[in-house]
Amino acid sequence: MSGISLQGVSKRYPGGILAVKGVDLDIESGEFVTLVGPSGCGKTTTLRTIAGFETPTDGTVRIDGKDVTDMPPYERDTGMVFQDFALFPHMTIHENIAYGMEASGEYTREEIDARVAEMLDLVELPGVGDRTPDQLSGGQQQRIALARALAPRPKALLLDEPLASLDKQLREQMQVELRRIQQEIGITTVFVTHNQEEALTMSDRLAVMNDGRFEQVGPPEVVYDEPDTRFVADFLGTANIFDGTVTAIENGYATVDCGDVTVRSQSPGALETGSEVSVIVRPERVRFEATSADGGTRTATERSNVFQGDITFKRHLGSSVEFRLETSNGRELVVVRRSGMDEVTLGDSVSVTIDPDDCRIVEE
Ligand SMILES: Nc1ncnc2c1ncn2[C@@H]1O[C@H](COP(=O)(O)OP(=O)(O)OP(=O)(O)O)[C@@H](O)[C@H]1O
Ligand SMILES: [Mg+2]
Repeated sequence: MSGISLQGVSKRYPGGILAVKGVDLDIESGEFVTLVGPSGCGKTTTLRTIAGFETPTDGTVRIDGKDVTDMPPYERDTGMVFQDFALFPHMTIHENIAYGMEASGEYTREEIDARVAEMLDLVELPGVGDRTPDQLSGGQQQRIALARALAPRPKALLLDEPLASLDKQLREQMQVELRRIQQEIGITTVFVTHNQEEALTMSDRLAVMNDGRFEQVGPPEVVYDEPDTRFVADFLGTANIFDGTVTAIENGYATVDCGDVTVRSQSPGALETGSEVSVIVRPERVRFEATSADGGTRTATERSNVFQGDITFKRHLGSSVEFRLETSNGRELVVVRRSGMDEVTLGDSVSVTIDPDDCRIVEE
C-alpha cells in the first residue's frame, strides 16, 4: 500500500477559475482522509488531480513516493468511485467487477474469477455475480461499485461522494461498511463529501476545504474541538460564536468585548490586546440550570460567561437533547446535553454558564 502526497497543487480551469490554490497534503499508507467543504470549494478537482483526470497548473502529485503529476489515470493504479457510480447496465455483476482486470490484460481467467469471488465476499454479496445491476438495490449496487474499484488491487481508493444518492439509513449502513472494508484491506483512501457528519465519523483525518484551500487538516476530534478558524468551527458541527475585541489578557485568559456581552476564554499564546477574534464554544460545553425565582434578577453583564435566558426550542437526539436558548441580550445559544438530566422545557428560564476553559479563541 502507498501514501499520497500533494505539494503546492493548484488547478486553474480554462476560463480562469482558480479552483485549487496551492494545497499541501501528505497521506500515509493505509490512511483514510476526507476532503470536506461546501459546494464548489474544490474537493472534486483535488480528487481528480490525484486520479490523473486533471493535470495541476502547479505543484506535484506523488503516489507511493513516485511523481505521477504528468501520468495518465490508467498508469496511476488508483481505484475511483464516483457519486453516480454507474455500473455498466448491460453487463452482469461478475463482468462489472472483472472489468478493470480484463482491460489490463494482465490476468488469467482463473485469477479474475477468483478475485471477483473474493470481492463479492468482501462486500458481503456472495452469489450475485450472474445478476445484472437492475436486479440489485441501490445500496447493493454501491457495494458492487466499490468491489469493481478494488478488484485490480489499486494502490489507493478515491471516492467522490459515493454515498450521496443513498437514503439516510442506507447511507449510515454504508458508512460503516465502507470503513470496515477499508480497514480490512488497509487501503489508502481519499474520500470526498460535503456532509460534515460523515467526514467526522469516518475519517482518520479530514481536510476542511474552503475556496480552494485547506483551512485545517487533522484528526476529527482535533478539528472539532480545536478549530483553527471561524470557518472550520462553523462548518463542522454546531458552534456558538462570539465575535469581539480582546480587551485584556491575564494569566493565559483573555477578556473579549463582544458589544452586548463580555466573554472570558483561555487564550492562545500569541494573542494580543486589541485583536479581533471569535470565541468558539461547542454546544456540549455549555452548561445551564433552571433559574430559581430570585435568580433571574442578576443582569447578564454582571459576570462574564454567565447569561440569563429562556428555552425556545428543544429536541431529542437519542442519547442527548438539543436546546436553543435566547439570552436576555437576544443571542441564541445552542446547547446539547445528555438525555435524562433534570428536565427543563420550552419557556423555562435558565442560567447559562460557560467555563473559560471550554472556550477557544480564533483570530479573524
Ligand atoms: N471543468 C471545469 N471547468 C471550469 N470550471 C470548473 C470545472 N470543474 C469545476 N469547475 C469550477 O471549479 C470550482 C471547484 O469545483 P469542484 O467541482 O472541485 O467543487 P466541489 O468542492 O467538488 O463541489 P461540489 O460539492 O458541488 O461537488 C467551482 O467553482 C467549479 O465551478
Ligand atoms: Mg464535487
